[in-house]
Amino acid sequence: MPQIKFSKSKPIIISVGGSLVVPNGGPDDKFLKKFDELISSEVKKGRKFVLVVGGGKTARHYIDAAKKVHQVSPDDLDWLGIHATRLNGHLLRTIFRKFAHPVVIKNPMRMPKKWQGKILVAAGWKPGWSTDYVAARIAKQLRAESIINASNIDHVYTADPGKDKNAEPIEEISWKEYRRMVGDKWDPGLSAPFDPVASRFCHKNKMSVAVVSGEVKNLAKVLREGEFKGTIIL
Ligand code: UTP
Repeated sequence: MPQIKFSKSKPIIISVGGSLVVPNGGPDDKFLKKFDELISSEVKKGRKFVLVVGGGKTARHYIDAAKKVHQVSPDDLDWLGIHATRLNGHLLRTIFRKFAHPVVIKNPMRMPKKWQGKILVAAGWKPGWSTDYVAARIAKQLRAESIINASNIDHVYTADPGKDKNAEPIEEISWKEYRRMVGDKWDPGLSAPFDPVASRFCHKNKMSVAVVSGEVKNLAKVLREGEFKGTIIL
């Protein structure tokens, strides 16, 4: 099983896929409840978290609707996605009200020097990438070496498992190989295990990413044992 190390003194950065928060027509309260229990119990043990949340189906529905009506620029499509991530950011901040810094972070370059609480919630920043990139920039600001990427994708596969029956899950992959698979191009609403722009940044800055499914049991394993079912990109 892949392993990941966290520094005890630093916050743990989780890129929380919008696909977990809003998988379909609306927010998944069952996931939110279990996620709340897990993160709150870790906070009570003294841990700090940065939760960077994606836009999920809300982002995709809005992007698709705009595209059907008119030809829209990629930046405008990204802005729709960004606002979906911010709505989800406010949802997480509200759920974690007891522990969360009161302001949802948009710009990773302007992080609060002093947090009020043990959880910082962040969302989309600017067009041209996803919240994975925001998580990567925050990791760099905090000098963290790793990021947990939780989404509805359980592993990086050798090929797209939706299209190729022979696709095999990978436990460990280098940035060089991973980037060869996903390329460098950004498309609004793109769904890759970890976004290409964020991948370039993590590669350059020697950070590792744990791609884990959103099953709360698996997330608990990563946080408590540093071991998980999924893929480590390093
Ligand atoms: P994400 O791609 O981060 O959310 O943002 P997601 O798709 O829900 O995440 P996964 O796939 O589950 O991990 C949604 C969209 O918002 C725009 C992009 O269009 C992105 O696809 N966005 C987000 C930006 O343009 N800039 C940002 O900083 C963040």
